[in-house]
Parts: sequence; structure tokens; C-alpha cells
Amino acid sequence: MAADAAPRRVRPAARLAGELTVPGDKSISHRALLLNALAAGTARVCGLGLGADVRSTERCLKALGVAIEPDGAEGRVVHGAGRDGLREPDDVLDAGNSGTTMRFLCGVLAGQPFLSVLTGDASLRRRPMARVLDPLRAMGAQAWGRADGTLAPLAIRGGGLRGLDYALPVASAQLKSALLLASLYADSPTHLREPAASRDHTERLLRAQGVALQTDGLDLWLTPPSQPPRAVDIDVPGDFSSAAFWLVAACVHPAARVTVRGVGVNPGRTGLLDVLRDMGARLTLANERDVGGEPVADVTAASSDLRGVAIGGDVIPRLLDEVPVLAVAMAVARGASRIDDAAELRVKESDRLHAVAAELTALGATVTERPDGLDFAGGARLRGASVASYDDHRLAMALAVAGLVASGETTIQGAESVVISYPAFWDHLAALAA
Ligand code: S3P
Repeated sequence: MAADAAPRRVRPAARLAGELTVPGDKSISHRALLLNALAAGTARVCGLGLGADVRSTERCLKALGVAIEPDGAEGRVVHGAGRDGLREPDDVLDAGNSGTTMRFLCGVLAGQPFLSVLTGDASLRRRPMARVLDPLRAMGAQAWGRADGTLAPLAIRGGGLRGLDYALPVASAQLKSALLLASLYADSPTHLREPAASRDHTERLLRAQGVALQTDGLDLWLTPPSQPPRAVDIDVPGDFSSAAFWLVAACVHPAARVTVRGVGVNPGRTGLLDVLRDMGARLTLANERDVGGEPVADVTAASSDLRGVAIGGDVIPRLLDEVPVLAVAMAVARGASRIDDAAELRVKESDRLHAVAAELTALGATVTERPDGLDFAGGARLRGASVASYDDHRLAMALAVAGLVASGETTIQGAESVVISYPAFWDHLAALAA
């Protein structure tokens, strides 16, 4: 992964205080580049979260013939190729660690009358792809993958797509978005139904681009546009999933007050705020505003007396990526906690149910793993230990938060994985703990 492969040592912080901004939202950054790449016209995108995942999307789009130029530190100018302007890549497309890149590209490539081959790192090559390839085949694309069409590397020859009428088997924004992208290329409308609401950034951006997209509860209808989508300038808000580490850190720390400015607070992403409030967290939102069709706020969290809680059902897709750090809060809160309906976490960058249970146990918490969730005894007094990140960025950062409130020193192996979504994470930790 990165050059810096040394483990990171985290010591308990006497206090945590300060204000900061986090990198641009990773989900919105992928979409801002990709949807503008398929648009007519030129778009300026600023505030991108340029971790390794978003760079993977950028690299693959360039390999498909899209012109993208730097524009300041975190900006890009995307010269839309138009809906039909991509060209056959002359090499394998490498999505790195990024499930979003691979699944979104499957949707786009299903619409292209040429052959593409997609691969990724060892983690991505273990993640399920049949959920995307099966419906794309039903639309008329040809698609192949290792292990009987379930794993990358994948090969796709697209074109000639029909609209789809499909009930998604999992609440997955990556799957939903891949199918919406493919449906831009179909000869008839597509209807999708989600089992529970997943994040809706793709829908918001497609609408802003002038695409006819209707939603009603969990149902979505997309009519393929006769004109390419419009290019739209985007100011990407801060990533709530990155802010989550500091919000939980402040809640569990006895002497803390942290403000994260300019964070995206799309309700499809902020299940963590609802759950932390139910646990008794001191959280405030200020300066709530709309930035380019996405809600944004400054979020402050302070030392809290947390109590245990049981969660499951519809809130899970709204806090999917926050479970590793929420688990730290549940481990130390007063009383028992429980997470249900979270089997999807087993097929993220790592098996996050297993990884969270094993590593928080190593730090002295009482956590047990179930097939679709976790049980926490609560009230843990964490003790520093050597823990593994499973090369999973969110595990590494959640364990760092645990280390800030553990006694003694916590050593995190594979800590460089933070470059996937939050390259400045360790610097920000040092600044807040100073
Ligand atoms: C993402 C959707 C989520 C999330 C991932 C990013 C997206 O996955 O875990 O980190 O940008 O659409 P699902 O496809 O499981 O919803």
C-alpha cells in the first residue's frame, strides 16, 4: 500500500480539543468525477477527498479516455466525454482497494460496446461482485468473473442494454448506483426497489444533471435521457465517515470538545448521530446549510456519559461505515449494547464484524461476534495492546480512537491503510491530542 509501513503508536491523550475540517466526502467525490465524466461539458469539482480510493476512480476514468486536470490542491476540471465518448482501455483497469470504483465502473462499462477488464487489490478481489454482474447481464451486458462470475478480475463487454425491473437483494448504494449508471444506456426505463434506504448521493447528482429520476420511498424510476447528462460544478462537503472518528473520540474521552466544520450531513449517512444521541452523547449541529444539493453543518461533540443501546434494521445502512468506531463507543459505554442486521459488514474492506470483535477484545473489551452482528458487555476499561488493522482503513482509525482512551500504549499494525480515505488522519490526531 503506502511507503510508510511502520506501525503507529497511540498513547492516551490528556485532553482532546480543537476544530478541524476532514477530507471531502469519498462517496460524493467518486460520483462527482464519474458522473461528470459521462456528461456534456466541463465541470469544476473542488474539495475532493483525494485518498487512494478516489484516485483509483480518477485513474480508471483517464484510462477510459476522460480528460481530467488538476485545479488547485483538491480540485479537478473534468472534461465530460459525453455519454458515448469513452474509449476501450488498452490495459486492465485497476480499482485498487475501492469497491465503489469497481462496482460503479461495472455499471458504466455494461453500457459500452467494447471490452474492459477490471481488477483490484487482494481485499477487493475477495469482495462479492455477482450482486452487480447478475442484474447487468439481465440488462443485456456480457460479464465474466473469477469463481463462476462472483469475484474480480472481471471482464465486461457491454452495449445494447434493456431497462431493468429489479428488487435489490441488499441495501447497497454501490449496487444501486451501478444499476442507475447502466440504465443511462438502456433503451427503456428502469425501475429499482431497495430493501432499505441506502445513501442517495447518486440520485441527487443525476437529478442535478437533468436526468429524469423519480423516487417514492424505496422505489426508483430512471428514464434514459436522449441528451447526455449536464456537467455540474461541485463543492464536495467534508466526509461524515471521516468526521465520525473525532465525534466518537470526543464522546468517549473524559476531557474533550471537538468541532468538525463543513461536514456532509445527508440523512442517509448520519445514523451514527441518532445512535450516539440515544446513548446520551453531547452533540450539536450548527450553521446548517445546503451546498450543491447536499446538507452540510458544523458538528461538535464533547465528553459524554454514554449508555449502551441496541440497534438494527433500517439504521444499519445509514451508519454502515461507522460501525468500527461506533463499536468503540459501545465497548466503553455503561451497560450492554447490541448490533443486529449487519452481516453486510463481513464483505467490506475486511470482515469488519470479526475484525472489530477480535481487536477490541485484544484491548480488553468484552465483545462477541454473531453471524449478523456484535454483542458488547459495556463498561470496558481499555488497555493498550498491539492490534491489527487487517489493512482496513476504518479499522485502523477506529483502533486509534480506542487507543486515545486506553491505558498505556496501543500499537496499530497496518496503520498506513488510512491513505485510502484520510491521508492526514495521523496529523489530525496529533493536533487534537496536543
Ligand atoms: C458507498 C456505499 C457503501 C459504503 C461504501 C461507499 C458508496 O457501500 O460502505 O464505503 O459510495 O456508494 P454499500 O454499497 O454497501 O452501500
